[in-house]
Amino acid sequence: MIKQKSIDSVMAAVRIEDVVGDFVSLRKQGQDFVGICPFHDDKNPSLHVSPRLGIYKCFVCDAAGNPVKFLMEHEKMSYPEAIEYLAKKYGIPLEYERNESDEERQQRSLRESLLIVNEFALKFFMDQLRNTEEGKLMGMTYLKERGFKDATIDKFQLGYSPDSWDSFTKAALEKGYKEEYLIELGLTGKAQSGKLYDIYRGRVIFPIHNDAGKVIGFGGRVLKKDGKDPRKYVNSRENTIYHKSDTLYGIYFAKNAIHKQQNVYLVEGYTDVISMHESGVENVVASSGTSLTQGQIRMITKRTQNITVLYDGDMAGIKASMRGIDMLLEQGLKIRVCLLPDGEDPDSFAKKHRDSELQEYLANESKDFLLFKADILSKDAGNDPIKRASMVNEILKSISCVKDNIERAFYIKECAKMFDLSENDLNLNLRRFVWEKTKEQSRISQQQQQQQIRQQSGIPGEVTVEQSGTPDLIETKKHPETAPQTDLLYEAEKELVLLVLNYGNYVIYEAGQEEGERSEGMRVDQYVCNEMMKEDIRFHYPLLEKIFTMYADWASYIGNQDQIIRNFTLSDDPQVSEFVIRNIPVEPRFSERWKKKYDIHTHTTRNNLRVLQNQVQNILLTLKLRILENDAAIINKVLENKELPEEDVGLALQQLNKVNQLKRIISQRLNRVVSH
Ligand code: CTP
Ligand code: MN
Repeated sequence: MIKQKSIDSVMAAVRIEDVVGDFVSLRKQGQDFVGICPFHDDKNPSLHVSPRLGIYKCFVCDAAGNPVKFLMEHEKMSYPEAIEYLAKKYGIPLEYERNESDEERQQRSLRESLLIVNEFALKFFMDQLRNTEEGKLMGMTYLKERGFKDATIDKFQLGYSPDSWDSFTKAALEKGYKEEYLIELGLTGKAQSGKLYDIYRGRVIFPIHNDAGKVIGFGGRVLKKDGKDPRKYVNSRENTIYHKSDTLYGIYFAKNAIHKQQNVYLVEGYTDVISMHESGVENVVASSGTSLTQGQIRMITKRTQNITVLYDGDMAGIKASMRGIDMLLEQGLKIRVCLLPDGEDPDSFAKKHRDSELQEYLANESKDFLLFKADILSKDAGNDPIKRASMVNEILKSISCVKDNIERAFYIKECAKMFDLSENDLNLNLRRFVWEKTKEQSRISQQQQQQQIRQQSGIPGEVTVEQSGTPDLIETKKHPETAPQTDLLYEAEKELVLLVLNYGNYVIYEAGQEEGERSEGMRVDQYVCNEMMKEDIRFHYPLLEKIFTMYADWASYIGNQDQIIRNFTLSDDPQVSEFVIRNIPVEPRFSERWKKKYDIHTHTTRNNLRVLQNQVQNILLTLKLRILENDAAIINKVLENKELPEEDVGLALQQLNKVNQLKRIISQRLNRVVSH
């Protein structure tokens, strides 16, 4: 762990334009810089880099972040790697924390040690392939025969393990790497006699990289078919750093392309990934297993919602893998499949065809998974009515996994055409599957809802306190971190937060003051804080509350508004920095010229001031209104409860009356402000 103090000094020194400028050529434009965005295909300078705020933002593909995020996304560094990179760049010495628990330290040092041993093994195998007679003769010749180019062999760091009992193990032990680590990693085996031997001997080596580019395991393919070892491939066994179910072969080399293309091709193994790269298709990973695990799915959905599964022509294999795909549909992924000609796998197909032919084939032959499945099953079932009935059910079951209503309707329409059935009939049957699926979910959410209502019978105001004894109502009313974008209360709170972030330091007249007569002005942020205190306005969304509190804290001693924003963009709470980076405009909304002038009494200044004043009023009133609406909704929900004791009903109704009265008053005031 790097000490926070060190991270702070790095952050204080770092300049976004330097960091991005190392990878993207930037052109000055006003206060900012612009360049071609490296996160999507583009010819126009959509990437804006703001030295003032310390962030980059692409206006096309939504990429945005601080310098650390840029390195993590663009260079695939981990957080500490990015900090270390920046420290080196700016010549800042780093100090490391020493207060981990013993167990943590041990685990970490075990992980680190294992990674270091793998690093050694990688170097050893790479060197053997390139610089030894045996490696060149056996390994390199084999790879060349397979048609792999030098550049590819280097990119994927392929290697060779000599065909001898223990030359790798010996070399590793000589260098001081512990026997137990070699065994844990599955690089070395121990015979009953106690003799150590090389597991990968006589094989070409395919290193397996995690998504940060660290080597976590190896695959080794035999060269000789002399039958001594029947296994074509040897793969790393599960260990502290290698979890097969969280690994996608090729992810490190595919990351950028997946993001850019917004699609990933899923293939079977090492050679498929490598051959497709050679043909210019880089958004490709291998699962080394039949169906994807949750961990692997997360690695993909982080970058895209679109998967294209490449199948070789083997029907039995296709049918076997179809079941696993329903799970992907449930995750909201869009699945396409591309069937290769009989007897071809992606590796052999890529080898036999020109780059452009492969790329065209992928583009033209990829089909929607569900329609593909329907087509295959339909052909299988032929005219047999019983088979056709079960086929329809099978397809409907898959369709019921699709979350999106509109998409579901699309599939029903297509299947109705394909099977010559009415949409109505299909919909009727579909409902059964959807119902079964949601039954379990609704049971759970019902329980949650009931609990919520129980908690919320603490209605705002006096009524509740005695009755439920809930000390802090706000607590129970808090909303989840990620609110639906349409939630009006969330929008209102967000507006208020953005108001202080954008204009907090602007001086406005105190409300109700005589026009033109300007005493000690009040800042927007002070005014907002005062109002919130006076009216007891509180946040319902924890993230927004956190940002507001952080702002208030910083604003009390940091005079420079841009510095406050920079602090936010560098926050170690990713939700906080993400929110601010997303929502802060790169270009200031008011011009510099106006900012300089706003002290002087001119007609325009006064107008601008009036606009801002109005906006502040508007946002505060809207928020109050939304809170009252929220209160009313809660009270109404409580009233829905038929078993509510009569006196509580009375109190709740009283309360509702009050809330509605207040709502009317606020609405009127709001109308006045808006029409002003
Ligand atoms: N694979 C594996 N273990 C096996 C067989 C295959 O892990 N026992 C994986 C490998 O990742 C391999 C991919 O599946 O790259 C394709 O299999 P296959 O075509 O059998 O391997 P190749 O090395 O291409 O062999 P061949 O030259 O016979 O095609
Ligand atoms: Mn093959």
